[in-house]
Amino acid sequence: MGRPLRISVESLCEMVRQDEPISMLTCYDYLTARVLDEVGIDILLVGDSVATTLLGLPTTRGVPMDFMVEVTAAVGRGTVRAMVMGDMPDGSYDTPSAAVVNARRLINAGASAVKCEILPEQLNIISALTEAGVPVCAHLGLLPQHVSHPKGYRVHGRAESEAAEIIALAQDARKAGASLILLEAVPATLGARVVAKVDCPVIGCGAGISCHGHVVVVTDLLGFNAKPPRFAPVMGNVPSHVATAAAQYRDAVKGRTYPAPCHEYQP
Ligand code: KIV
Repeated sequence: MGRPLRISVESLCEMVRQDEPISMLTCYDYLTARVLDEVGIDILLVGDSVATTLLGLPTTRGVPMDFMVEVTAAVGRGTVRAMVMGDMPDGSYDTPSAAVVNARRLINAGASAVKCEILPEQLNIISALTEAGVPVCAHLGLLPQHVSHPKGYRVHGRAESEAAEIIALAQDARKAGASLILLEAVPATLGARVVAKVDCPVIGCGAGISCHGHVVVVTDLLGFNAKPPRFAPVMGNVPSHVATAAAQYRDAVKGRTYPAPCHEYQP
């Protein structure tokens, strides 16, 4: 058997045609990337949520571009099959030319697509990236980079006027060249309406069952978040495994049972 082919935008479109849901998780390191790739997660998003999840910062703003490049490279080294999607951090796409320069850095580090949080006045960012040959995922709905306080997270598109704006923005993003749409924290009915209006894969992050694929933050999935969002499934308890191993090690060191003779080098 040969090497599995790397998932591309074309393979994601084929999955949609075949009615196969797309699985996507965030990922921030080489070790986890290897595991997620081996189990067949289709897209690994090197999200700027690395700020809140791994760096302990209050919001996703302020992650340096250089750091995102390093993390994207690490995730790229850990994958063979999964598409690696690099997240453009706050401040890295303020102008179309800055967006192209920074997106190319993520692509050169190992990403095959980039994700940008898109406001209506930023459609030119999508066009510039598309013209530069960079596949773009337009992130709509709740935009964490525009939330300055942890309490600012809320469901978007509950009011019909806001729902209509999100649908129109999804259509405009697609016209500007977006290859994928990511919808965060919107009612399931709005997720279904967006799916019906655009002809590209729609990934939901709390956007209901109709989306072609779904993404959650890996640390929520693994049980690291004491208050995960409503849509995040908690399917593991990794902190308890870490705590058990660390406590055993502490007891072994304190009780002088570690290192045992089998751990020692002989002269
Ligand atoms: O950075 C991130 O984790 C994200 C997801 C919430 C989609 O953008």
